[in-house]
Amino acid sequence: MAKLIDGKAFAEGLRKRIAGAVSTLKAEHGLTPGLAVVLVGEDPASKVYVANKAKQTVEVGMNSWEHKLPADTSESDLLALVDKLNKDSSVHGILVQMPLPKQIDSAKVLNAIDPAKDVDGFHVVNVGRLSTGQEALVACTPTGCVMLAKDVLGDLSGINAVVIGRSNIVGKPVAQLLLAENCTVTIAHSKSKDLPSIVRQADLVIAAVGRPEMVKGDWIKPGATVIDVGINRIERDGKAKLVGDCDFASCEKVAGAITPVPGGVGPMTIACLLYNTVKAASAIKGIKAPAM
Ligand code: GUN
Repeated sequence: MAKLIDGKAFAEGLRKRIAGAVSTLKAEHGLTPGLAVVLVGEDPASKVYVANKAKQTVEVGMNSWEHKLPADTSESDLLALVDKLNKDSSVHGILVQMPLPKQIDSAKVLNAIDPAKDVDGFHVVNVGRLSTGQEALVACTPTGCVMLAKDVLGDLSGINAVVIGRSNIVGKPVAQLLLAENCTVTIAHSKSKDLPSIVRQADLVIAAVGRPEMVKGDWIKPGATVIDVGINRIERDGKAKLVGDCDFASCEKVAGAITPVPGGVGPMTIACLLYNTVKAASAIKGIKAPAM
């Protein structure tokens, strides 16, 4: 049976180290990192995420601001708020919660955020920096995936990593991070031919395709590490259930290590967001950010 990768415990440890870094920044530099989160509309999942972000930001000793705007907010009003936050020197990180309502062009809003404050790592400048090996703010979920993989495997150099999914939020940036770790990276997706045989080559599988329980145990190379990014709400036996993109019951029999859903990658995302806020605040002030 696979070892369970405890993302909840790892994220807790990371948040403790971040809290330590924040208190050092306050004591030695008079700097309190601050994160502004913008939520447009009433999406229930987004409201939960935003509330959790605000709570954990305060818990590690940082400033937190929540801007809640109505669902019919215009693009120009949202851009005006982003511009105000860009200019506010107490704000070091800006996160605009996705998805945005239809009347707003998400790419336009994300690219209006000052890249130095782009703690989501979604701005084209940060995406470009990551893919050219330059210092960047990197998307939070991918960062969390690679931290967990390194915790299990140590050096990732030379291993075969298969990423299933090609989203801008997870698939593409996690592939870039793994490439930077010297993995041989394959990006597969829902339209890839013979996906099972591609996944069978993998020493490390990152499943981020958004299809409940798609990856089966007989796709997994014995002993491989499986990082499941999926969070899918399904109904089974009349009960609501949260499942990943991997069929946990069959994969855990074959894998060497596997993340559960929930409690695997999920808790890492906000912890990495807090770390990005420390990184952004440090960089803006010209201070070297502590390693985590
Ligand atoms: N919606 C779901 N995940 C994320 C995320 O990591 N960042 C933002 N901004 N929105 C999201």
